[in-house]
Amino acid sequence: MDRIKKIGILTAGGDCPGLNAAIRAVCKPAILQHGIEVVGIASGFLGLLEKDYIPLTEDRLSGILTLGGTILGTSREKPFRKKSFLFNEIEKPQVIKNNYEELGLDCLVCIGGNGTQKTAYKLSQLGINVIGLPKTIDNDIWGTEACFGFDSAVGIATDAIDRLHTTANSHRRVMVIEVMGHKAGWIALHSGIAGGGDIILLPEIDYREEIIADFILKRAERNIGSTIVVVAEGIRKPSKMSAGTYISNVISGLCKMESRGTVLGYIQRGGTPSAYDRIIATRYGTAALDLIINREFGKMVALKNDQVTTIDLEQVESKLRLVTPDHKLIKSAKSVGTCFGQKER
Ligand code: F6P
Repeated sequence: MDRIKKIGILTAGGDCPGLNAAIRAVCKPAILQHGIEVVGIASGFLGLLEKDYIPLTEDRLSGILTLGGTILGTSREKPFRKKSFLFNEIEKPQVIKNNYEELGLDCLVCIGGNGTQKTAYKLSQLGINVIGLPKTIDNDIWGTEACFGFDSAVGIATDAIDRLHTTANSHRRVMVIEVMGHKAGWIALHSGIAGGGDIILLPEIDYREEIIADFILKRAERNIGSTIVVVAEGIRKPSKMSAGTYISNVISGLCKMESRGTVLGYIQRGGTPSAYDRIIATRYGTAALDLIINREFGKMVALKNDQVTTIDLEQVESKLRLVTPDHKLIKSAKSVGTCFGQKER
């Protein structure tokens, strides 16, 4: 069988720390150990539509392990989305296939979240050789225990919560911090526990406003004047209001106490990757190259019981990995007195 000669690599969806570590881990051994030509594709799948390519050389990969963001750039281009299906009057998936073939690629490495893995799977059904790497701060990709970007985001959010404790104590206030996570509350759960959040609200666990208020008032009766509330952006809330603002207003109204909201936002996706994310991104990238060399396409690298393994993209593309109400971390948090907005049985 012919040896692998040329591969393309792209980063798509929300950016996060660790993307460059993953690019480096795929491309350096490809170039240095296998003599493979590597084509960087700019701005996710958009770069394959627009033929926007970046030749990746050993020099270009130097010094990027610790660099946040992605040297390739990213976008949320979804080529299979019906409402914008054409590119210069040709169906986008066909344009991508044509440009993949014109480049003479043996494989396309797709680094991204749920939307990216879904697109990669659909491209594989058109005959394009793809390999997926799981990336998202939300950590909600099915089939893997870890997506790089998540650990860095949890560290940033935890540091922010630590800082909110001091100002909450000084003013005897309720401080509400909103972290990212539209559908999955992994960042809120992990940073809430690590940061000593008194109340943690997740999209997966419905809450009752009066239970939150009662919990805070009972703390005030015990002369504990400050409370830290960690909420995921995707919890139930009025559509025109951020989760943090809504919960802060609810608390001010029901408890008649000073409450302030902080939306951490994109800070969770910026800066250098944590050591863990650098390591997992390196493990995933080198494992992805092994799959390419062995021509095991149509798969995503994954982590199970701390072992790097693979899962067919077909298994990944239509599911989310959400926090289950009986998750062991929720049990631990409840044991130390954390409130999840529900009536305790
Ligand atoms: O998917 C990761 C994520 O950061 C989510 O947590 C967040 O809700 C979303 O991306 C923000 O999307 P955008 O970067 O397009 O504003």
